[in-house]
Amino acid sequence: MTTTHSYHEVLLAARGISVTRGETVILRDLNLEIRDIKRPGVTQGQVVGLLGPSGIGKTTLFRVLAGLEAPDTGEVLLGPEARPVARGVMGVVAQNYPLFAHRTVLGNLVIAGRRSGQSGAQAEAKARELLVQFGLEEHSRKYPAQLSGGQRQRVAIAQQFMCSEHYLLMDEPFTGLDLIAEENLFRFIRAMAQTDERTTFIIITHDIEAAVAVADTLWLLGRDRDAEGKVIPGARVQAIYNLAERGLAWREDIMSSPDYLRLLGEIHALFPRL
Ligand SMILES: Nc1ncnc2c1ncn2[C@@H]1O[C@H](COP(=O)(O)OP(=O)(O)OP(=O)(O)O)[C@@H](O)[C@H]1O
Ligand SMILES: [Mg+2]
Repeated sequence: MTTTHSYHEVLLAARGISVTRGETVILRDLNLEIRDIKRPGVTQGQVVGLLGPSGIGKTTLFRVLAGLEAPDTGEVLLGPEARPVARGVMGVVAQNYPLFAHRTVLGNLVIAGRRSGQSGAQAEAKARELLVQFGLEEHSRKYPAQLSGGQRQRVAIAQQFMCSEHYLLMDEPFTGLDLIAEENLFRFIRAMAQTDERTTFIIITHDIEAAVAVADTLWLLGRDRDAEGKVIPGARVQAIYNLAERGLAWREDIMSSPDYLRLLGEIHALFPRL
């Protein structure tokens, strides 16, 4: 297996993002960019982990990236053609995976497709395709209450792929999962990221282990300090880890690799200063 990879056109760019709520500066001149990764012989999408301590501004950034909230300054642009993001363009999976309780799994997907303008037949065809892809075929007639937590989460993700072609933002997707469920989700995200070149997961989390395990790139959110070491309000990207370059991306065995443990140590040491 080859490990060579290269970066191509910009898929998402956030430029000069600032958000102040009341007196609180939450994000300050934040910039980031995701480019299309290509690997020879592999359809390879992107998995970016956005990591930062509690209260730093991750959910705020999530909402800005998703077009759910306008920043005070700056913009979020999608694709090589730099389209400004708008509500509904990006798939978003919030923490509680809201599904319609009175609709089946299939019904939940179809309604998401209908809402984004697909005909009933189009939506159903796409839903059936996604159910196969997501390993949910046998559950298509079940109601959300009849699913496990992990299955619900997969339905919620599939639902987002009904209307958003390529981008999927997830806020703290690992919360409340046990180790096995977590590893299943890693495997699932890695597999989904290989279904289309432009598929791009942005995973927002404070879980360092999980972020390193699943991403090809990590952004660390934190605040700058002035000359006296005092915190300057407003989070920015403090560090970028290219896990692909370090040979830590796209690996099933990642969690048992010494390089993985070393990187965890590095990030754990940085975290309290963010
Ligand atoms: N509407 C608001 N008005 C004032 N302050 C706010 C508002 N919303 C969020 N904040 C503050 O902005 C900061 C960032 O909040 P945010 O929810 O983005 O953090 P987070 O990184 O997602 O935290 P967690 O990991 O705990 O979910 C927090 O200090 C929060 O108190
Ligand atoms: Mg949050």
